[in-house]
Amino acid sequence: MKMLMMTTMQVHYVFLILLIFSISIASCSIVSSLEGPQIGINYGRYSSNLEGPVIGINYGRYGSNLPPAEAIPSLVTSLSIKHVKTFDLDPRITKSFANTGITLSLCIPNDKIPSLSTNLSEAESIIRNSILPYHKSTIITSISVGNEVSLLPQFSTHLVSAMVNVHRALKRYRLHKKIKVSTTHSLAILSRRFPPSTAIFHKSIGESVLKPLIRFLQRTDSPLMVNVYPYLAYKQSFPSIPLEFALFQPMNSPKRRRYVDPYSGVAYTNLFDIMLDSVDSAVKSLGLPKIPVVVSEIGWPTSGEPGEVAASLENARVFNQRLIEHLRRRWNKVTVYIFALFDEDQKTGAAVEKHWGLLYGNGSRKYDVNISPPI
Ligand SMILES: *[C@@H]1O[C@H](CO)[C@@H](O)[C@H](O)[C@H]1NC(C)=O
Ligand SMILES: *[C@@H]1O[C@H](CO)[C@@H](O)[C@H](O)[C@H]1NC(C)=O
Repeated sequence: MKMLMMTTMQVHYVFLILLIFSISIASCSIVSSLEGPQIGINYGRYSSNLEGPVIGINYGRYGSNLPPAEAIPSLVTSLSIKHVKTFDLDPRITKSFANTGITLSLCIPNDKIPSLSTNLSEAESIIRNSILPYHKSTIITSISVGNEVSLLPQFSTHLVSAMVNVHRALKRYRLHKKIKVSTTHSLAILSRRFPPSTAIFHKSIGESVLKPLIRFLQRTDSPLMVNVYPYLAYKQSFPSIPLEFALFQPMNSPKRRRYVDPYSGVAYTNLFDIMLDSVDSAVKSLGLPKIPVVVSEIGWPTSGEPGEVAASLENARVFNQRLIEHLRRRWNKVTVYIFALFDEDQKTGAAVEKHWGLLYGNGSRKYDVNISPPI
């Protein structure tokens, strides 16, 4: 989770467009129940991921006193979750999920990207050592080549070739159908987000990195992975976006607000759908067909800097619970990985970075969310 690392200019820009957003939301303010607002746009061949929503969880390990690898699967299962995303390729973790029925999404560390881009043997050696011995008993579904590197030139220029080589290496071991190769992006890849139908990628990476990257994903039938944080958009634009809009407003609230995209006419009742549609629009703006999007990180913090009042146990509970309900209802199915399994007290940076867990380091729940039945 490095989304806070946006340039000042980007933050400024986001703020400006959010101001526009706040004006529109005021002007369409309170709308009595209209029949099912049309959510999302759909211009491509993928109308949905037919299987329904999948809810997984991120397992980050920058915490002191976290439980040992062997204890993780039962903690995950106790949350009624069956899908886990990690930030590395640690064989101890991969092994601990053997024969549990829990799927794993793994990640190759950023610093491997430059060498992977030119060295196919290096990619083969990673697959041979970190995947081949384990894939028969552990269900490995995807590998992210790096984490949120698309705006970092020292990695982004090598990113697509590295992904191609990892895919080739998987192919060599006939695992390429089973294990998808992708990479996670922060939403800072968008230079414009609002209105969602007008969203575009940063000029510096749109044509040069993201276009070939998305083409690779389409060719290999792999999803685009983005980290979507309504909390950060809410915070960066404070006080433009109503908190309830970021927290998925309750369905039955008489004060339910709508934001109508002035160009597409699509009505939104929550920030999450706006953020997802902005990704779709940016893909479209590159002249590419729609691609399935996996939300590789999403969540709400329980604590932050003094005065960061929206970061609270209650808001985190409400956000995650309503997110799950929203995903079950949403016509356009999407896979999300909640951030995160544990609080991570060793994270540096803003205080808020440490408090995204559903569980304390000792394994007890910080608050109750009901995810069952597991999906
Ligand atoms: C490529 O990777 C292999 C396997 O990791 C390594 O032995 C070799 O030295 C690398 N080649 C170059 C040119 O770095
Ligand atoms: C786990 O840690 C939390 C926070 O430090 C604490 O409130 C709770 O009592 C602990 N639970 C157990 C079972 O030790």
